[in-house]
Amino acid sequence: MGRDDVKFTAKLGDREHFPDLEPLVYCNHAAISPPSWPVRRAMQNAIADWGRRGSQAFGTYGAQRARLREKLARLIGASVEEIAFLPNTSSGVTAIALSFPWKRGDRVILFEGEFPANVTPWMRAGELFGVEPVFLPLSDFQESDERGLGRLAEELAKGARLVAVSAVQFRTGLRMPLGEMARLCHAHGAELFVDGIQATGAVPVDVRALGIDYWASGGHKWLMGPEGTGMLYVRKERVEALQPHVAGWLSHEDAVRFLLEGPGHMRYDRPFKKRAEVFEVGCINAIGLVGLEAAVDLVVELGVETIHAHVVRWGDAVEPGLVERGFTSLRAPEANRRSGILAVLPPKDIDVVALQRALLTRGISTAIPDGVLRFSPHWPNHVDEAEQVLLSTEDALAELRGAPRARSEDW
Ligand SMILES: Cc1ncc(COP(=O)(O)O)c(C=O)c1O
Repeated sequence: MGRDDVKFTAKLGDREHFPDLEPLVYCNHAAISPPSWPVRRAMQNAIADWGRRGSQAFGTYGAQRARLREKLARLIGASVEEIAFLPNTSSGVTAIALSFPWKRGDRVILFEGEFPANVTPWMRAGELFGVEPVFLPLSDFQESDERGLGRLAEELAKGARLVAVSAVQFRTGLRMPLGEMARLCHAHGAELFVDGIQATGAVPVDVRALGIDYWASGGHKWLMGPEGTGMLYVRKERVEALQPHVAGWLSHEDAVRFLLEGPGHMRYDRPFKKRAEVFEVGCINAIGLVGLEAAVDLVVELGVETIHAHVVRWGDAVEPGLVERGFTSLRAPEANRRSGILAVLPPKDIDVVALQRALLTRGISTAIPDGVLRFSPHWPNHVDEAEQVLLSTEDALAELRGAPRARSEDW
């Protein structure tokens, strides 16, 4: 059987489940999380099971997915029929962008500075359906929620069908005021789509309480699952209006009946499912979703609130030391607008590409999205890592200041 009966427990600040993780301080969960030992073990067991049983294993993993669907729904405050498994965030954005009941001349509000996954599909929908994309600057929200919401309200008043935003901004870590955004959208007859990948697992969310209409998230960042897994939440009241522009053989009700019940059941006109699952168009990443469940179990065991407080504390421990060393923090000053991401701009004389490399050689794994230095710890990181991070940063700065700037002659 593929089900792993060993019960693993997660402890905040404990890397026991990452026995061969090379960086001394892994703070790149906003990019890709390393799979923990429980995730690896669950996937290894599952693949061995498929290897032994072949298609006979299919039912086992159907039941596993039903369990996971319930866990993911609970994690974000949704109900089971509102969750679809998709391979990544982009598929969720694309599903809604192409299926939304657009009318020619509609407007969709996007944000300048968003991760491209939450822009490209809307632009494509714009081209295909005659929808006008309108970009608002994120800088207003960076300044204050009040200012950002004021600007959004002005734009919504001109008419828009949908607003697409990330729950947490990938570059700055800014946590967006989703509840207020949803209220504004609905007051103006628009809907709210949220790219939740930088939040799911490490920032508390309750999609129903917040009034969010759609939530897409990959599994390989803050959920700590494998790449190629993800989910889409579609608020059940929204399903009816969606056009099945993204559909496949499994989008139909009773889609597999013809494979199980003998002749006479194969039809092409069965109705489409009236739930999020309509977007599960074909066979999916069964093994990956086994890994995702093992990852989600650890997150659920610790609790998203607890994880969030932990990663914010890690940021609190590192941020002042970076500022002292000449970095400019992009973190919001207010606690309720912070996430697991601590992003800083390096001192002016420092090349961020070279700095990231210098940090990695010292065992500190970071990312440099669009030129910021981004730290993204998760539950296995210990707050005491702050000292190591700051000493390594100081050392890296000293090396870079004594060496020619990286890349200057590379291109
Ligand atoms: C805000 C945001 N959306 C989406 C993605 C990734 O999208 P996908 O899951 O489709 O690869 C990332 C990072 O890779 C991201 O930071």
